[in-house]
Amino acid sequence: MNAKIIGTGWELPAYEADNHYLSTIMDTSDEWITERTGIRKRYLAREETTTSLAAGAAKKALASSGLRAEQIDLLIVATITSDTETPSTACRIQAELGAVHAVAFDVNAACAGFLYALHVADAFIKSGIYKNALLIGAETLSKLLDWTDRSTCVLFGDGAGAAVLTAAEQGGVIAQSVGSDGSRWEALSCMGRVVHNPVCPEQAAPGFLQMNGQEVFKFAIKTVPLCIEEVLRKAELPAEEVTYFLLHQANKRIIQSVAKRLKQPEDRFPMNIDQCANTSAASLPILLAQMNEQGRLHPGDRLVLSGFGAGLTWGACVMEW
Ligand code: UT7
Repeated sequence: MNAKIIGTGWELPAYEADNHYLSTIMDTSDEWITERTGIRKRYLAREETTTSLAAGAAKKALASSGLRAEQIDLLIVATITSDTETPSTACRIQAELGAVHAVAFDVNAACAGFLYALHVADAFIKSGIYKNALLIGAETLSKLLDWTDRSTCVLFGDGAGAAVLTAAEQGGVIAQSVGSDGSRWEALSCMGRVVHNPVCPEQAAPGFLQMNGQEVFKFAIKTVPLCIEEVLRKAELPAEEVTYFLLHQANKRIIQSVAKRLKQPEDRFPMNIDQCANTSAASLPILLAQMNEQGRLHPGDRLVLSGFGAGLTWGACVMEW
């Protein structure tokens, strides 16, 4: 049995902040952001939270799958911006949906989080332990950003995407390849709470997201093509037979570079980075759900999904739609 996606959904905050708006509050320009990243605008949460965005996307994914919440056995939220340190966002979504039979937990793998969640769900479904899974990538990255640091804050946005998977005899996930390199964690990180107790009263404020942009860029353009080539080998699928390559939406130039290294035309690398910016773990499921809603995915299509991010983490998956 393979894990097959049978429903998708996405949710974005109501507030749209375009590059022109950012240029009024910091020393940046629409020209710089568009040329260096491909981003034109991002959605920023005001009323919304990671939980509310996740719930919105999950409800749409469930509705489009035809399953009821009680039929979900496994509920995973990929996020680095949970609203609560504990419980997990997944447990709060379980309560909101009434997914009473699900085991619910979060995974923290930054922008590769949705791929990691897919990896876990596929293993559980293949082994026969669970049949139906709900995977959500949800973030309010804007709350981790230093809004005086133009080198990071212009890059990210908030949002959520979700997918319902079920055990299927045909199609679904064919091959996966995921990896981590913790020795390079400092390239992209955000410090959390520090030790604070009666024997250690010093307390520092939680940090903001900090990134060595060029190091992450180089890592991405080297690792992502290798990871995709590996997963295509495992699936015994030539790159030419892939319908779409859905890549984590971090930077248009990274996606173009990966397309070039794989020697595949750019039009098979769909993008929504101009609209949504980098929504971390939410980026892949939002793109997938939007393409599904637009009727761009058809039974038998071969999709490659690939993500990379803090950790460092990366992953790729081949699936038949
Ligand atoms: O989800 C995974 C996480 N992140 C990524 O994938 C990000 C990977 N990295 C990147 O996408 C790129 O490295 C960035 C978009 C972050 C930066 O692009 P870059 O071409 O590597 O620019 P840079 O860091 O070399 O900066 C070039 C110049 C600098 O000015 P000087 O020193 O040349 O005078 C920066 O100060 O651009 C300046 N700069 C800006 N200017 C206007 C940096 N940020 C901005 C800004 N607006 N927002």
